[in-house]
Amino acid sequence: MKAPVQIVLLTGGSSGIGAATARILSRSGMTVYAGSRRGTLPEGNQGPEDISRLIPVRLDVNDAETLKAAVERIVREQGRLDAVICNAGNGIAGAIEETDEQEARAQMETCFFGAVKTIQACLPVFRTQGHGRIITVSSVAALIPIPYQAFYSAVKSALLTLTEALSLEVKPFGIQCCSILPGDTKTGFTNARKYTEASQDKESPYYERMSASVGKMERDEQHGMAPEVMGRAILRQLKKRRMSVTVTPRIDYRLIGLLSHWLPDRLVLWIVGLLY
Ligand SMILES: NC(=O)c1ccc[n+]([C@@H]2O[C@H](COP(=O)([O-])OP(=O)(O)OC[C@H]3O[C@@H](n4cnc5c(N)ncnc54)[C@H](OP(=O)(O)O)[C@@H]3O)[C@@H](O)[C@H]2O)c1
Repeated sequence: MKAPVQIVLLTGGSSGIGAATARILSRSGMTVYAGSRRGTLPEGNQGPEDISRLIPVRLDVNDAETLKAAVERIVREQGRLDAVICNAGNGIAGAIEETDEQEARAQMETCFFGAVKTIQACLPVFRTQGHGRIITVSSVAALIPIPYQAFYSAVKSALLTLTEALSLEVKPFGIQCCSILPGDTKTGFTNARKYTEASQDKESPYYERMSASVGKMERDEQHGMAPEVMGRAILRQLKKRRMSVTVTPRIDYRLIGLLSHWLPDRLVLWIVGLLY
């Protein structure tokens, strides 16, 4: 694509990584439609010139109609859509045995099918234009299996694989795909995490280990990277002529990703077990 990216739809734009990304993209001159269920402006400081390029949109990634309406509105107002960032997400915690099907499906709905629905709403526009960029926000947890957040890990892994396969399917239409894999990042994600109902029972055989493991993960998140680190990584990809297919911001997380490929699975699981 020769023309620079100007018009962006971003989901999960009210808070955390999405909010930081929306501000950073708008400051670089892009117009960002920031979608969320709250439908509020991205949290954090906005200058007056940011606000003219930050457009809050109420949408729910679990509701295809709201996504379709958002895309139609953008095309009506701007005449084009250059990029979509599928960032909306949340996490559930609990032992696999103590996660009922509905709880597991809810995780899959928002973090996987939510991104799929968002992508499907944008693809007809991208194909007609002959250009478009799709960025999904996966996680380092896609590469490293995390105990007591197994469904989250599995869903982020599925999203990463989907993005890679998609990049092959849509390349002939001039569409590029990229998946960002954040490590621990200090956002509202920690507070928004849901615990499965059964895992909150203190009599559960998993309770103590799960509480200690997820407690450590939550402390790591709250001492983690600023969400702006992800926003800047996303901006760099949108400015590149050809996006990378996967991007893991920060050298230490990149190294973790590489080691997870190189080391034997048993060793990787042993290290993860020591950590959590
Ligand atoms: N924080 C981390 O350590 C970390 C690490 C790896 C990956 N990630 C990923 O990064 C992404 C952003 O998370 P975050 O850390 O920035 O968390 P966050 O601060 O909780 O932000 C999540 C965003 O998603 C939106 N959202 C949730 N469900 C939605 C739905 N059904 N429809 C539309 N919007 C929805 C929320 O807005 P509303 O509530 O207003 O809808 C909010 O704007 C997620 O996909 C997460 O899995 C985070």
